[in-house]
Amino acid sequence: VAADGTKQFSLTMRAGRTEVLPGKPTTTWGFNGAFLGPTIRATRGDRVAMRVHNQLGEPSTVHWHGMRLPAVMDGGPHQTVQPGTTWSPHWTIDQPAATSWYHPHPHGSTAKHVYRGLAGLFLVDDPATAAPDLPSTYGVDDIPLILQDKILDANGRLQENPKPTRGLIGDQILVNGVYDPFFEVTTALVRLRILNGSNARMYNVEFADRRRFHVIGTDAGLLAAPATVDRVQLSPGERLEVLVEFAPRDQVVLRSVAGDNGIDEGDYDLLKFVAADQLGPGPSVPRRLAASPRIEAPAGARERRFRLSGSDEINGREMEMTRIDEVVPAGATEIWHVQNTVYAHNFHIHEVAFRILDVDGRQPPAYLQGPKDTAFIPAKSTVRLAVQFGRHTDPKTPYMYHCHILRHEDKGMMGQFVIV
Ligand code: C2O
Ligand code: CU
Repeated sequence: VAADGTKQFSLTMRAGRTEVLPGKPTTTWGFNGAFLGPTIRATRGDRVAMRVHNQLGEPSTVHWHGMRLPAVMDGGPHQTVQPGTTWSPHWTIDQPAATSWYHPHPHGSTAKHVYRGLAGLFLVDDPATAAPDLPSTYGVDDIPLILQDKILDANGRLQENPKPTRGLIGDQILVNGVYDPFFEVTTALVRLRILNGSNARMYNVEFADRRRFHVIGTDAGLLAAPATVDRVQLSPGERLEVLVEFAPRDQVVLRSVAGDNGIDEGDYDLLKFVAADQLGPGPSVPRRLAASPRIEAPAGARERRFRLSGSDEINGREMEMTRIDEVVPAGATEIWHVQNTVYAHNFHIHEVAFRILDVDGRQPPAYLQGPKDTAFIPAKSTVRLAVQFGRHTDPKTPYMYHCHILRHEDKGMMGQFVIV
């Protein structure tokens, strides 16, 4: 913390060696350390200042996925950090409590940079939009779970053999960079902050004993009330916060099972929970959560349409760095229709929070009705979003919207908008 109260964070992008499989080191990339990055945490109202230093041998960027901030601070493909240089964005945190994250966004190379290990969580606290008694001791009853799939050869070396359409899909699932992990539960109620940090894999997350659990938050903030479920789906870039109840000596595996959308094939164990003989008392699951109002589009809201086709086009065009596709008035709430002509994709919009209005005219499940910034778009479907834009204007510097399957983003399934 600087003398004027600014919270300063330092992130150095570098290569290193990691034993993902014990005794078998492989080259990985990380922020500060060899693999992944530290969890950044700040409170609404904080001024934050980042020092992003690039020690990779090539240009990169760092995008604050989920942050509401000026476009020049966003870390998209226009804010390149050349090798050997430092980028110093700063802004004031002004958004509800949420689990956000950060990762590189260099145009055409995002898939490679994220896959090699450049990703971390960015937690926003806000006493005004959080229930007072949620589990919140980081690492004890408030646990981040970054889900990523990798391809590792017999010598434990990270492989990069992209599949032609979806890119890098692995069959070794890491949680927080760890293969075959377990977690020792010491409290009766545990909060999990789950990030799908994979390049392309979808997860359908459930407990092997099919116990029910409670979704409390989506990408951009808490739900109005917990939604009780026995399985949740996360496409790349999406986050969910959930509460899980444990009994003493419970042993249960969190796993991902194949879904019916054709793109999350395979059953995988994610993490084993092992509960202690005696558990500290946890708070009970709250009945109400957030104080932030639901995102509503006003009558007569501007509507825009986006057609995702093949694996590289939106509205028939590939992304171009010099073309502004949409101009949005500051503070607007608009309705965006995102349509998949054939394959399943997902859709992320920088800077905003949105609410999923409907999927082919049907309401999404309760657990997906919270504030979000990334949504799964099923094959041959149209998803309508009520999108709330911020008030940081800049007619020259665009924000991005794109498919978060990183190979698709790299190939051009991305567009640019400015806020004026
Ligand atoms: Cu998480 Cu434009 O990205
Ligand atoms: Cu896609």
